[in-house]
Amino acid sequence: IIDELKSSNGHLMIGGVDSTVLAKKYGTPLYVFDVEKIRKQIRSFKTAFEKNQLKNQVSYASKAFAVKAIYQVMKQEDVHVDVVSGGELYTALQAGFPSEKISFHGNNKSAAELKMAVENHVGVIILDNFLEISLLSQILKATEQKVKVMLRLTPGISAHTHKYDQTGQTDSKFGFDVESGQAKQALKLVLADPNMEILGIHAHIGSQIFGTQGFVLLAKKMIEIAKSFQSELNYWPEVINLGGGFGISYTDDDDPITADTFITQISDELKKVCQNVPEIWIEPGRSIVGPAGYTLYSIGSRKDIPGLTSYLSVDGGMGDNIRPALYQAKYEAVVANKMDQENQETVHIAGKYCESGDILIENLVLPKTKPGDILAVLDTGAYGYSMAMNYNRNPRAAVVFVENGQDKLVVRRETYADLIKLDGDY
Ligand code: LLP
Repeated sequence: IIDELKSSNGHLMIGGVDSTVLAKKYGTPLYVFDVEKIRKQIRSFKTAFEKNQLKNQVSYASKAFAVKAIYQVMKQEDVHVDVVSGGELYTALQAGFPSEKISFHGNNKSAAELKMAVENHVGVIILDNFLEISLLSQILKATEQKVKVMLRLTPGISAHTHKYDQTGQTDSKFGFDVESGQAKQALKLVLADPNMEILGIHAHIGSQIFGTQGFVLLAKKMIEIAKSFQSELNYWPEVINLGGGFGISYTDDDDPITADTFITQISDELKKVCQNVPEIWIEPGRSIVGPAGYTLYSIGSRKDIPGLTSYLSVDGGMGDNIRPALYQAKYEAVVANKMDQENQETVHIAGKYCESGDILIENLVLPKTKPGDILAVLDTGAYGYSMAMNYNRNPRAAVVFVENGQDKLVVRRETYADLIKLDGDY
């Protein structure tokens, strides 16, 4: 892959643009997205569904990366998006994203957020808990509106991934428990509410999942649940939403599964256990934007500890990518202006934040570098910018989209003035 990205002058190319030129033009740290890669990934999910002849909907889980420009790409690609807060909903609407293609998630949506969703006619609200059912019911009554809903269920499936990325096990803060009958109770309430139209059932088993097993199990389980709903409450879902969580390859140790394999195996299972398969929705976030994102940093200071190791510091770190510190996430990186040089040493890549845990990559093998060289960390498109913060009052980095050899600034770099914009005096 890395060979494909090299230009003849040994520079890393992204979407037909020399990454070192981008670093110079916009400064570092800089998030760069190859938009064509995003489009291709969306299309591969769609194609896989079509091949398997399943009625389907791809919904981008925008928590992975939520800025106006990405909602606009999703609009162009004619997919749905899911949002998990008033802020994501606001961003999507401001971007001109059609509200009827928005699903609204969250385990503690406020009355204000629910009202905002109803007033803006979102496509579907994914109900997570009993308080939400009653809040929404009151809002619908008061505003004389109707809305489509789905029920988020915790199906009792543990995904093999980081603990923080598991969501489908019984002991989870999300959704209605199936085992104990909460899900059925919720369905009864919704069926009895004249202002709620129940579109289907939803479950999400976790994130950065490699095997297909969990999804196949989930597909089977959701059909079982649907059948029990049908026999006991005479309700059959129009839609089954299987959530997101398809893993991507951050390093050579990761063995990702293609969209085609995931969808084909899910489809085979569904057809095996059900004659009348409902429309299947998925909500990938990471797999759509992750591999398309690169973070460019300028290399700065260096500390060599004789006989032990070397730390190479960059001008960003945990503020633009919290994942290594939070989940011990691993990444690959290259020296963007030295792609034609041999790797010669092993170093730790340290961030600039005042925190010992701010190490972006351990034991990275690189060519010899000097200050000012550009380090490109790969596959940073998901949960990078969206989890960025201002720790140590570092301004958040800019975001650039590249496509067909053209670059476009889609989020400008924060300034020091931005940092104190919300501060008052005392
Ligand atoms: N649908 C629901 C209901 C979700 O909760 C999530 C992710 C997704 C879809 C999308 O999952 P994806 O396809 O992106 O794996 N910050 C963590 C990931 C948290 C994921 C939360 N929910 C990380 O950086 O690994």
